[in-house]
Amino acid sequence: MSQLNKYKRYTITSALPYANGPLHIGHLAGAYLPADIFVRYLRLMKKDVVYICGSDEHGAAITIKAKKEGTTPQAIIDKYHKQIKDSFEEFGIAFDIYHRTSSSIHHDLSQEFFLNLYEKGEFIEKYSEQYYDEDFDQFLADRYITGTCPVCSYDKAYGDQCENCGTSLNPTDLIDPISTLSNKKPVLKPTKHWYLPLDKYQPWLEKWIDEKEGEWKVNVFGQCRSWLKSGLQPRSMTRDLDWGIDVPLEEAKGKKLYVWMDAPIGYISATKQWAIDNGKDWQQYWKKQANTEDDACLMHFIGKDNIVFHCIIFPAILKAHGEYVLPQNVPANEFLNLEGDKLSTSRNHAVWLHEYLEEFPGKQDELRYVLTSILPETSDSEFTWKDYQARVNNELVAILGNYVNRVMILMHKYYEGRVESGNAIIKLTDAKVDAELGGYYDDLGKNLESYRFRAALQNVMDMARLGNRYLTEQEPWKTIKSDPEAAKTALHNSLILIGHLATCLQPFLPATATKIFGMLNLDAVTFDQELEFANGHQLNPAALLFEKVEDEAIEKQIQKLADKKAASALVTQPVVAPAKANITFDEFVGLDIRTGTILTAEKVAKTKKLLKLTIDTGIDQRTVVSGIAEHYQPEAIIGKQVSILVNLEPREIKGIMSQGMILMAENAEGKLSFVAPADEMPNGSVIR
Ligand code: 2FM
Ligand code: ZN
Repeated sequence: MSQLNKYKRYTITSALPYANGPLHIGHLAGAYLPADIFVRYLRLMKKDVVYICGSDEHGAAITIKAKKEGTTPQAIIDKYHKQIKDSFEEFGIAFDIYHRTSSSIHHDLSQEFFLNLYEKGEFIEKYSEQYYDEDFDQFLADRYITGTCPVCSYDKAYGDQCENCGTSLNPTDLIDPISTLSNKKPVLKPTKHWYLPLDKYQPWLEKWIDEKEGEWKVNVFGQCRSWLKSGLQPRSMTRDLDWGIDVPLEEAKGKKLYVWMDAPIGYISATKQWAIDNGKDWQQYWKKQANTEDDACLMHFIGKDNIVFHCIIFPAILKAHGEYVLPQNVPANEFLNLEGDKLSTSRNHAVWLHEYLEEFPGKQDELRYVLTSILPETSDSEFTWKDYQARVNNELVAILGNYVNRVMILMHKYYEGRVESGNAIIKLTDAKVDAELGGYYDDLGKNLESYRFRAALQNVMDMARLGNRYLTEQEPWKTIKSDPEAAKTALHNSLILIGHLATCLQPFLPATATKIFGMLNLDAVTFDQELEFANGHQLNPAALLFEKVEDEAIEKQIQKLADKKAASALVTQPVVAPAKANITFDEFVGLDIRTGTILTAEKVAKTKKLLKLTIDTGIDQRTVVSGIAEHYQPEAIIGKQVSILVNLEPREIKGIMSQGMILMAENAEGKLSFVAPADEMPNGSVIR
């Protein structure tokens, strides 16, 4: 049966959100709602559990936001830490502590960790050339450098990634790099950093991850395997930044810890703070105990973009330290989309939690229900407002709310809300109902313990369906005249079923469960308690659990998203790109642009955006790699006439030598279109 008995203690974490913006439903569906459900379940099973979270307040994400808003990093983290903390609380995410990485207890512990590894000689010290802004007198974090992508020629690629073609880059890969601080060309300067040799941990990690096969979710296990397969490289644990935790070494003055070194340590420092506040021993929740059986079960709930940090890098850090337990499981979720499009903070395409709470007051459980029903557990999933409306109206109102309401109304109508019988204790007496209910309990436990929260919620809804069916079959509104005892028994059984429903709803819809217990006039029940009423028990008045969502409310939300989209398109995408600086006539004639014809086209393996083309340039037949795969099907462009810059220096792209560049027109939304002569021209015709 339950695997939970294997562990004495549970340490459950949800990814620390960056304190650089509000929370949206994608965050909730990724790392918070599943963990909250799991933790509430553990508590119902009377387990010793601590649920940890807090704000991630370091890294370039924070300083970039501060720059954007024209304020300081401190002001940014203070503003968003409070906003995030408050909305989590109102939404009902029941952390034991919501801490912050700017706290001194966290700075101290992170430095202690670094020194521990340093003194053991775990780091490799290496000089490398990194970009430096001479005007601002500082080294530039990857995100502070933009330039032209060497793969697709997109001119706003970042130092770590090109968002146009998805290629992951190093700052030195960029063509014509520019510092976003001074808008000038940065210079390369040598700088020393401390690297964790992940390659050294590779054999150990491989063995450790292999043992998780079948136990970890397929998506998580697969991603780990693929990281390992591509071979781990040493990763720098220090950065040249002015915001973060100081590297605790004299010779590293001015340098900060890598945010992905300090952030996961934030789970531990938060636990330390919680232990101080609650008279507990934090080490029991994190450190290896004298007997392995006494070790805590550590679990990280995260979104899929955090897998490598929680399954490879942080475990390597913990292993290097040596005293800590490793995660038993990392049940990462995939992504949630919204109305057919990716959720996006920068494009403001999101349902923001603080706005939802304001516009739908008291309707936390409705959102919890809908999100739990569509959690991206095994693949990306989609939130739409119409689906929200349908699930609330057809499931919460029509099935769950309706059932509880019918029973409560009848109990008050027939018996003034008193649960009375000849027995001192009133229990479930229908064997068939009892057996079916037992089946749902079993499935519920199994599903929850295997992180199948969607299915688990359905198990609870099946209990409500069972209740509705039972009531319809028993027809107490008829038997109240023909066989009053039967009516009473049916309603008492229904009440007990409602008690079970409230019990099982606790992890999912905690406010609703509390309301039902309130109506039943019962204290909340844990999974191991009997559900029964004492003879003469008085119920409280019936109250509606859910209200129907009207069309207008939904249309308003859909309109709001459309308005935001339109506004962000105006702000972020000028319709016409500004003119570039003048060039000389000689520079212009230096460009050798010809008409050519596409002879062959095929996708470049393992890339989303690249096509490998053979072009007849009139001069020769040559290979060109072009970032147009998302705009054109290879077979559709064969025979097409194009313009090609033939004297661009050849470059190797994904192992293919690309000789030239196809000219494309690009609109503000990033749509690409070939630039071709209006009439068919012989290949090799000069364009000028
Ligand atoms: O991706 C993020 O939002 C990170 N702030 C998550 C950090 S999780 C942990 F390691 F702290
Ligand atoms: Zn690119």
